[in-house]
Amino acid sequence: MTHTPTVYVTREIPEVGLETLRERYEVVVRTEKLPPDQAEVRARLRKLDADGLVCLLSDDVDGDVLDASPDLSVVSTFSVGYDHIDLAAAAERGIAVGHTPGVLTETTADLTWALLLSCARRTVEAHAYVEAGEWEVWGPTLLTGADVHGSTLGIVGLGKIGTAVARRTAGFGMDVVYTGPNRKPGREAELGDVGVDATYVDRDRLLVDSDVVSLHVPLTQATEEWIGEAELRRMDDDAILLNTSRGGVVDTDALDTALERGWIGRAGLDVTDPEPLPAEHPLLRHAPERLVVTPHVGSASVGTRDRMAEMAAANVEAGIEGRELPHSALR
Ligand code: DGY
Repeated sequence: MTHTPTVYVTREIPEVGLETLRERYEVVVRTEKLPPDQAEVRARLRKLDADGLVCLLSDDVDGDVLDASPDLSVVSTFSVGYDHIDLAAAAERGIAVGHTPGVLTETTADLTWALLLSCARRTVEAHAYVEAGEWEVWGPTLLTGADVHGSTLGIVGLGKIGTAVARRTAGFGMDVVYTGPNRKPGREAELGDVGVDATYVDRDRLLVDSDVVSLHVPLTQATEEWIGEAELRRMDDDAILLNTSRGGVVDTDALDTALERGWIGRAGLDVTDPEPLPAEHPLLRHAPERLVVTPHVGSASVGTRDRMAEMAAANVEAGIEGRELPHSALR
């Protein structure tokens, strides 16, 4: 009798991915709402002698997790980011690592714009105002915000998502500046094709010139707390800071101080540090007037999440069959 490989899935992902896996493998899906701790993942992998692991960005996958099952041949994360996986440890052990690149670019850019418009035009605050029964009369200065059209957007990291965010300025007549380790002539040309003129500037220029600073970098040692006290002090006191990348790119305490002291105008965050952000976290005292927070839902459209599940399943299949992963995180 041939051995049917086993795949452990740490949380419920969209059915379309699970169905694909169930056609070929024994699939064990953990159904609890909260993520497992590492000890639980290790114990399950060991007990199942798992061949594949499907994890989320909330699962820390280190060498000990990778060693838990001697049969483990592939780790497939249901995410684009893979800063929660020790890639070097996986490479040393010959374990393939897959992720879901590209798929969420446009969906995350849409959410970035939702935060941008919410912050500039105070929509969350306005909704709370109506809900609280405070809307008694039309007011000449009631809930006035900032114009988005004609303003300057500063993109930190002109990768796929940063470019998709910049592309959307075409309808708003905005100026676009961007920064990063290198100029990106290819991305500039791509944006030029839709009438968006993106100018490469250094970090200081971007912070000083932008009405909106939007972060689109992966979390690495170089980008950790990229926005700290010095950067926030350089920004305009009406400026908006947006983060839909990783919470660790912003120094949370510095942001708290910046909002408190009025170094910047508002912040829109889809990612936070810590994440999840507890309801009693001090940062939330600025909401909704100065702060809008969403719970890491940048990629949360039904279509995108289904596609992520399909890609995660395709990575598992390739890994178990010893083929090159269609979407490998290992270079
Ligand atoms: C990712 O995939 O890295 C996003 O942060 C969540 O979908």
